Amino acid sequence: MKHVIQINDRIKELFRKHKIFVQDDLQYNIFSGTVIFDETLRIEPYVELIITGGILWSMGTSSYGMSLQLPVNTQVGRFCCLARDIKAFPKSDHHGERFSMSPITVQDQTYDRGNATRSHYGFIPISAGFEQSKGFLTEPTISLDEEPIVIGNDVWIGEAVRIKPGVHIGNGAAIGYGSIVTKDIPPYTVAAGSPAVARKQRFSDSIIERLEKLAWWQYPYWDLDGVRGGMPIEAFIDQVEKLAAEEKIRPYEPEPLTARLLLDAADN
Ligand SMILES: CC(C)(COP(=O)(O)OP(=O)(O)OC[C@H]1O[C@@H](n2cnc3c(N)ncnc32)[C@H](O)[C@@H]1OP(=O)(O)O)[C@@H](O)C(=O)NCCC(=O)NCCS
Repeated sequence: MKHVIQINDRIKELFRKHKIFVQDDLQYNIFSGTVIFDETLRIEPYVELIITGGILWSMGTSSYGMSLQLPVNTQVGRFCCLARDIKAFPKSDHHGERFSMSPITVQDQTYDRGNATRSHYGFIPISAGFEQSKGFLTEPTISLDEEPIVIGNDVWIGEAVRIKPGVHIGNGAAIGYGSIVTKDIPPYTVAAGSPAVARKQRFSDSIIERLEKLAWWQYPYWDLDGVRGGMPIEAFIDQVEKLAAEEKIRPYEPEPLTARLLLDAADN
């Protein structure tokens, strides 16, 4: 279920308290407009997001994104880097199975018989012919909710990427500039092109298997004693496995910002 709420001072405080920085690139200030989100919203601390049109979606800690247009049911994991201008394929009500894909077959909610200048999109009078209808009937679109886009942990998505709803992008994957992602991308795969296909793997199969099992993103990285940013991947895995085995690190489980918290803080 989708919610739309007006930003107020309590909601501003919630974002601050949860250490989430969100800016709306249409209004340059999310704190002057509305936010739109799904029942399942869950944003962890240390997320930085520039969104379009007030739409929020779930994101894990330390992920960031710039000028994104993703649906409210999108799920993004931890430590993801989402570049500028990433969009999901837009939802459409053009029916390939009907005699025409034009919106003339679709129930027109906005059409006003006395006013031929109003139309499906509010400016092109494509529905003007309805004034002369001799029994032609429109039928509504049956709009099904689209499957969510699921982006794993430690995913890097380059600029100007388009993603089909329902696609899953595996942990550690990278998506090249301008790619059109129509199918699932396996973990630690560098994929690119239109359609995006696997170009290379970041690591060997055995390393990928160890990384998936370790799921290092579950831990607070600031607790990873003995880890250096650029250390060889085998040494990194050995060290984090050792810290976990010795119970020197525990999964990071912060309180996320949820739909419930936003709704409780909203004006009635
Ligand atoms: C995908 C990417 C990371 C791969 O870089 P790389 O590891 O240096 O890989 P290579 O250049 O060796 O390319 C590997 C193959 O993928 C192809 N390829 C790379 N990027 C591609 C792209 N964006 N679209 C289509 N094909 C691409 C190359 O032509 C090459 O094909 P080949 O094996 O048939 O010769 C990089 O090309 C890219 O797109 N980076 C994103 C940049 C960006 O959006 N930055 C935004 C700010 S973070």
